Amino acid sequence: SAQQATARAIAGAHSHREGALLPILHAVQEEFGCIPPQTIPAIADVLNLSRAEVHGVVSFYHDFRDTPAGRHVVKLCRAEACQAMGGAALAEQLLEDLDTGWSGTTADGRLTIEPVYCLGLCACAPAAMIDEKPHGRLDAARLTTLLSELAP
Ligand code: FES
Repeated sequence: SAQQATARAIAGAHSHREGALLPILHAVQEEFGCIPPQTIPAIADVLNLSRAEVHGVVSFYHDFRDTPAGRHVVKLCRAEACQAMGGAALAEQLLEDLDTGWSGTTADGRLTIEPVYCLGLCACAPAAMIDEKPHGRLDAARLTTLLSELAP
């Protein structure tokens, strides 16, 4: 497919580098908005890796996704300090309200909710990053307001 050919070209351009896989995956995600599953064999082939090895790296790093993100990305902290301050319940409620799951995107393509493990904002837990902007001391009302203020 065209995606496979593009992924192969991207992989080829980086393959001489040591530790080429991560830069390749970032470049592929930049190109397609995600790592399309069908590009994994092409990348593996260029680097002489197994598909399982490439797939393992893709699933290990939370930065990589297999479908394009929604128009806004909300990263909710799931690390200890935030969990202790009500972060777990907050996340559970939000996912339920939006009818999606971790790393899922709402049906209208507006919001993608992702887990993150400490944003360095533990002192104002629970915390989240909304479109790269950090927010602390969240509760359900504040989170709802912040999300409603985002562009459609
Ligand atoms: Fe959530 Fe550190 S644990 S910001």
